[in-house]
Amino acid sequence: MDEERLVSPQRRGDESFDPALRPTTLAEIIGQNRIKENLAVQIGAARERGEPLDHTLFYGPPGLGKTTFAHVLAHEMGVSIKITSGPAIERAGDLAAILTNLQEGDILFIDEVHRLGRPIEEVLYPAMEDFSLDIIIGKGPSARSIRLHMPPFTVVGATTRLAMVSSPLRARFGAVYRLDFYDPESIAEIVRRGAWLLGVEIDESGVREIARRARGTPRVALRLLRRVRDYAQVRAGGAINLEVARAGLDLLNVDPLGLDEIDLRVLRTIVEKYDGGPVGLATIAASISEEPDTIMDVYEPYLLQLGFLDRTAQGRIATRRAYEHLGLEYHHPQQPELFDDGEK
Ligand SMILES: Nc1ncnc2c1ncn2[C@@H]1O[C@H](COP(=O)(O)OP(=O)(O)OP(=O)(O)O)[C@@H](O)[C@H]1O
Ligand SMILES: [Mg+2]
Repeated sequence: MDEERLVSPQRRGDESFDPALRPTTLAEIIGQNRIKENLAVQIGAARERGEPLDHTLFYGPPGLGKTTFAHVLAHEMGVSIKITSGPAIERAGDLAAILTNLQEGDILFIDEVHRLGRPIEEVLYPAMEDFSLDIIIGKGPSARSIRLHMPPFTVVGATTRLAMVSSPLRARFGAVYRLDFYDPESIAEIVRRGAWLLGVEIDESGVREIARRARGTPRVALRLLRRVRDYAQVRAGGAINLEVARAGLDLLNVDPLGLDEIDLRVLRTIVEKYDGGPVGLATIAASISEEPDTIMDVYEPYLLQLGFLDRTAQGRIATRRAYEHLGLEYHHPQQPELFDDGEK
């Protein structure tokens, strides 16, 4: 089963396909106003001083705009951006090669920064702190270390897992921003903007319907919009209204809250197989043949945000709201003594 997943972490071409949809300036970014304001200050100050930006870290669930913000920073600062990722840098020498190629003020964007290896981080620390690079020349007894100085630059890091970024690395970022799910108004505006850029005719009720099911996530909103555009084109003469949006989204198996097949399987596993929990993440993952990391990064944040799941030391618990959404009667086997007390 490998159909395109609407909320999946895989980025499969979707965004490179329509690069016009990606905001390039701070002003074009919708929502996240607090972060935008902070960045505007950071950018203004750096520009006035003629210095590069402070090292900046973005974290939060997939699809909320971390990569977008990194590109916008480069655009607003008028500098180049070099892109790499934690797992792509295998040896310290790879990083040294990237660093020595940077021009003054450039942004080095490191995606999945929590996946950098320790030896690589060791090289990155002095580079971030003093813009210097310790290089070992030669081998064996004649090996010696020389220190290279490089022009000041900016590291922009992105991660879905702040907790997995080592604390020495975290400490070297002068600014750290957490991206949250977008409010419904902002998501609606993102759908409107996307439709306008794609040249799709859509009315306000269609915008609202797509926004409602987009789980507060711009990437999902834009994907749903594209799929509904396809549906409208083939089945409804091209224009999107409430009815067309509903029919298109139902066909995609996106439920009224934006939950897809996997979300529902996670909930049903906890409720039906483990009696509401608590049950460990690894167990849930095994029962539905998914990676625990994927569940934790992609699915769980939104289920937590909806208040459908609780995390406890013993594992995940399905809440009353989750039962209600599944149309099941709520009972919580973990607290039978509460009921006993009440009956006495
Ligand atoms: N604030 C926004 N306004 C409009 N579009 C946005 C906004 N934020 C993100 N997008 C769009 O959503 C998509 C996903 O954003 P982006 O790739 O920056 O997410 P990400 O946080 O880097 O995700 P991942 O963790 O998977 O790398 C992009 O196509 C981008 O165009
Ligand atoms: Mg990204």
